[in-house]
Amino acid sequence: MKEMCAETNNTRPNLYLIGFMGVGKSAVGRYVAKTLDMDFIDSDHAIEEKTGMPISAIFETMGEAAFRQMEREFITAGHPEQGCVVSCGGGLPIEEGMSELLLSKGVVVCLFASESTIVERTARNNKRPMLQTDDPTKRVRQLLDKRLPVYMNTGTGISTENRSLAEVVNHVVRVYTQQTRKTDKRRAGE
Ligand code: S3P
Repeated sequence: MKEMCAETNNTRPNLYLIGFMGVGKSAVGRYVAKTLDMDFIDSDHAIEEKTGMPISAIFETMGEAAFRQMEREFITAGHPEQGCVVSCGGGLPIEEGMSELLLSKGVVVCLFASESTIVERTARNNKRPMLQTDDPTKRVRQLLDKRLPVYMNTGTGISTENRSLAEVVNHVVRVYTQQTRKTDKRRAGE
């Protein structure tokens, strides 16, 4: 798929965007990548490309555990180590050890939105297997309860609520620039 990273000379640390379904990780990630002149990669698209199956079919035929293993493999060794903005599927940082793995690989930013915004946005498409239930609102609430602490402890949080795409992108770029500058200074022994 087109979002797979091409061979690149870019040696900047990767930026990982995490957060719940519907917070805008892919739209923000694409725009941030363009702004920083980095490549964009979406974990779901990479997995779909590798398996030749849509996410919904992977869940249906192989189950969620197999999908989570594919996400782990993607983060461990399935994408370039530098120069990419990576939009991570909403459940990717949640499994044991995944948030630590992300933090060891680059800058992690977590996008947030309110529960009502998430419910409204995710209702617009029915491709997300985690929300295929009779009561998606309840499911969103249950998943948020479980996941929010992990999201909050992993990435620098940025709200997308009542903000334009450009505003969110500016915040993300600022956090990335600040954090990579700190690392550069540490490396240079300043
Ligand atoms: C999931 C989120 C989806 C996708 C899969 C499972 C989740 O990605 O990885 O349907 O468990 O939250 P998005 O967050 O991009 O919708």
